[in-house]
Amino acid sequence: MHVGIIMDGNGRWAAKRGLPRLMGHKRGAGRVKDIVKTSIELGVTTLTLYAFSTENWKRAAHEVEGLMKLFRGYLQNNFVELNEKNIKVKFLGDPTPLAADLREQMENLEDLTKDNTLMTLNIAINYGGRDDLVRATRKIAAKVRDGSLAIDDICEQTISDHLDTVKQPDPDLIIRTAGELRLSNFMIWQGAYSELAFVKTSWPEFTPEVYTEVIAEYRSRTRQFGAVIPKGAKVVK
Ligand code: FPP
Repeated sequence: MHVGIIMDGNGRWAAKRGLPRLMGHKRGAGRVKDIVKTSIELGVTTLTLYAFSTENWKRAAHEVEGLMKLFRGYLQNNFVELNEKNIKVKFLGDPTPLAADLREQMENLEDLTKDNTLMTLNIAINYGGRDDLVRATRKIAAKVRDGSLAIDDICEQTISDHLDTVKQPDPDLIIRTAGELRLSNFMIWQGAYSELAFVKTSWPEFTPEVYTEVIAEYRSRTRQFGAVIPKGAKVVK
């Protein structure tokens, strides 16, 4: 089961308490460890966390810098443990505009954990669903140009195979915290048939208990993928 989470509401959590926005992000970063652990307990095999979108660069420079610092800190503090826990870490998004030291840390962690098998943790940094599709299109076009791919052979699978999530299952469930009802450019191709869960709880308050309830509610749903499932048929979840 693949769960994607749009971790929203850090800023509002802080504002409500008269704190600077970065305090909300700090709290938010503190939630990640618990949620990774709970994901394993709940049988989630791929977890994607939307940490920084292609649009988030428009925020004030000190907020962007603060977020980058938090990513660095998270990677530093969890580098060894993620590997020991048999978690494969993958970064989604275009790393090019990120600082060289952060990129190096990301590459090292991907490399260290690439053969791990318990769970895949995708961290989306400078990720946008549209940007993912633009980069995939460029890779596909290059193959057409060099003659290794025929235009008529391009199908849905070809697109999936050139996205950052190559070889991964599509998200079964996308959760957005803090009450907004939109996807904000998150996995727009991969999420075509995803179930959606919008919860009021802000990310800093998204505890393992709340998460467990959301997963239980999802598991009570019946997914049909556009088909009609006969009454009484067994649905695998
Ligand atoms: C959205 O809240 C959240 C973000 C843009 C950043 C998410 C980042 C973290 C939770 C920190 C670290 C993550 C990792 C993987 C270590 P918002 O600022 O848009 O909240 P608001 O809508 O209430 O202003």
